[in-house]
Amino acid sequence: MNLDVVVLAAGKGTRMRSDKPKVLHILADKPLLGHVISAANNLNPTAIHIVVGHKAEDVEASFPGRPFRWVKQNEQLGTGHAVAQAMPSITNDSVVLILYGDVPLIKASTLKSMIEDVSQDQMSLLTVDLKNPAGYGRIVRDSDNSVAAIVEQKEATPEQLALTETNTGIMAVSAQQLSTWLPALSNSNTQGEYYLTDIIAMAAAAGVTVKAFHPDTEAEVQGVNDRVQLANLEREFQAEQAHQLLLQGVSLRDPQRLDVRGELTVGQDVAIDINVVFEGTVSLGNNVTIGPNCIITGSTIADNVEIKANSVIENAVIADNCTIGPFARIRPGSNLAAGVKVGNFVETKKVNIGAGSKVSHLTYLGDANIGKGVNIGAGTITCNYDGVNKFVTEIGDGVFIGSNSALVAPVSIGENVTVGAGSVISKNIEKDQLAIARAKQSNLDGWQRPTKNKD
Ligand code: UD1
Ligand code: CA
Repeated sequence: MNLDVVVLAAGKGTRMRSDKPKVLHILADKPLLGHVISAANNLNPTAIHIVVGHKAEDVEASFPGRPFRWVKQNEQLGTGHAVAQAMPSITNDSVVLILYGDVPLIKASTLKSMIEDVSQDQMSLLTVDLKNPAGYGRIVRDSDNSVAAIVEQKEATPEQLALTETNTGIMAVSAQQLSTWLPALSNSNTQGEYYLTDIIAMAAAAGVTVKAFHPDTEAEVQGVNDRVQLANLEREFQAEQAHQLLLQGVSLRDPQRLDVRGELTVGQDVAIDINVVFEGTVSLGNNVTIGPNCIITGSTIADNVEIKANSVIENAVIADNCTIGPFARIRPGSNLAAGVKVGNFVETKKVNIGAGSKVSHLTYLGDANIGKGVNIGAGTITCNYDGVNKFVTEIGDGVFIGSNSALVAPVSIGENVTVGAGSVISKNIEKDQLAIARAKQSNLDGWQRPTKNKD
């Protein structure tokens, strides 16, 4: 079976009050349209056709190099007209699944069963029972309870307005039938639009059964028309991710104060405190503990790591038994071996830190290779930048760097070196040496402090 997915995404989204097309607004880690595409891709479709209109170029440019068929709908003449624009490149033996670029949380599992049931005698329609159906198309059923038609809110009689089964807009239908029904649509209705929903009555008239499916949750079929709805769906999405993590055995101090904007994989007995944000692909090993207010992006964190409050970690690899923070900033290219300790107000970037080394306070380490068992004193700075180029600092195993030292790269410090506090190191140091590079202290007798002039 061929499956052609048609995603309607031509609308402007006036109520977003935005310069950006509605389908490009972000939910979690990607645009609304990106979520719909992910669901569609899970179905292994033959092709995904995306109907674009308002700022079509911006929408296309947001998905570079992706094998979609972009279909231009220059004027938004209605949902039926929008689908019709995609039909010329769809063959009759296909099943057509219609999705919406502003309905982001639709699940592939819901769609799968809808597609499977399509034949020449049957089409699938996703409907939902709503307490407040205002604004939606109503599902009209005949005397034997079969779906007979959809009436739009604006066309509905008072009895029809009382119906609570509503149209989500999502349907799956044989291409052959769709291509006979779409050209027969008329726009003589209150909105002067070609309503896709009118094909339901055509199906019923042709003896094609319209089988109604229902989503697991309402959130799955909710659309985004304004930023209130966008914010609500973000919460729905995050609540679901938190729920899944809890089921996987993660402890969340407060499932409502966690944001996962990407792919998070977890080991056993992970504990996450409040207000933690994960971005991109993050993996956490067993017994990882994360304190409050941490942001972790694109990183791999191994077993028994403790990340304390207010730490920010980006594109880093952290081995077993490390301790990080509070208030640490681990920047891209930081590679921490087992048992490393990085304390408060420490920034690292493009650095390898060997097993068991400690950087406990107030330090910048960038472009450096640091051995095992090294102790970096408070206030140490790798001076890696001359204003134009970056240079590397090499520090051997067992080195002790005294507090408030500046290491002016390129510079190499041998094994077991000791650097005296307050040194500015600009020359290489051989192994086992003590290096002190600071002005000599003078102690002057009888020093009179300056006094204030009283006049
Ligand atoms: C549509 C349905 C309604 C259903 C509701 C669910 C029709 C006629 N009505 O109503 O039964 O309850 O969705 O949300 O289908 N679009 C285009 N090109 C167009 C027109 C629309 O791409 O020419 C896109 C819009 O950008 C939007 C989606 O299709 O994402 C739905 O269109 P909209 O006009 O919002 O339909 P509704 O009036 O909400
Ligand atoms: Ca709508």
